[in-house]
Amino acid sequence: DRSIKIAPSILSADFANFGAEIRAIEAEGADWVHVDVMDGHFVPNLTFGPMAVKAFRPHVTTVMDVHLMIAPVDPYIDAYAEAGADVLTAHVEAGPHIHRTLQAIRGAGMKAGVALNPGTPADAVAHLLDLADLVCVMTVNPGFGGQKFIDMTGKVRRLREMIGDRPVHIEIDGGVDVTTAPLVAAAGADVLVAGSAVFRGGSVERPEVYGANIRAI
Ligand code: DX5
Ligand code: ZN
Repeated sequence: DRSIKIAPSILSADFANFGAEIRAIEAEGADWVHVDVMDGHFVPNLTFGPMAVKAFRPHVTTVMDVHLMIAPVDPYIDAYAEAGADVLTAHVEAGPHIHRTLQAIRGAGMKAGVALNPGTPADAVAHLLDLADLVCVMTVNPGFGGQKFIDMTGKVRRLREMIGDRPVHIEIDGGVDVTTAPLVAAAGADVLVAGSAVFRGGSVERPEVYGANIRAI
């Protein structure tokens, strides 16, 4: 479906070569670039922070979609705006004041995303839909790439009903591949993050594999 966006997660890229990896996935058809920020506290893994994200910025010509798996969020919002994030997504579970966080993200000039862990119901965003540009439905427990897809299609359908005619994306993150992508797209998702399914088998020397993987999803 042409209206479905594919957002490769650079969590599965070569960490010594981010600039070239980003240029390769964009040349091979990525619609957005998904950047997974982990703090070793909200999730049991560490990736990179605002200085690295700022270094990615000049390589991204599409949309830099920054997924914060950190707590707290609010002290870092301005740093990610300065780093050039287009979309900044915070988890509803990351603190007591997600409403304030989403207001602050928009106030800093970015699109605001709100993410839901697998155990969190759709209703957690019921009062946030006018403050969010994107709802990210996690289909793995966040922290690592390459995990098995957890079926959240019921949650996606419910969110699509709740969103109604608002211009809010539903993004799916975790375990998206050629088998699971059609399920979530049919349920109403329109942005699909994929890490291992895009980078598997390819490299910056063999970027055509990335292209084939993207088109297969
Ligand atoms: C998980 C991250 C995902 C992850 C997806 O915590 O938020 O973006 O990189 O990787 P795959 O597609 O391999 O499940
Ligand atoms: Zn992510």
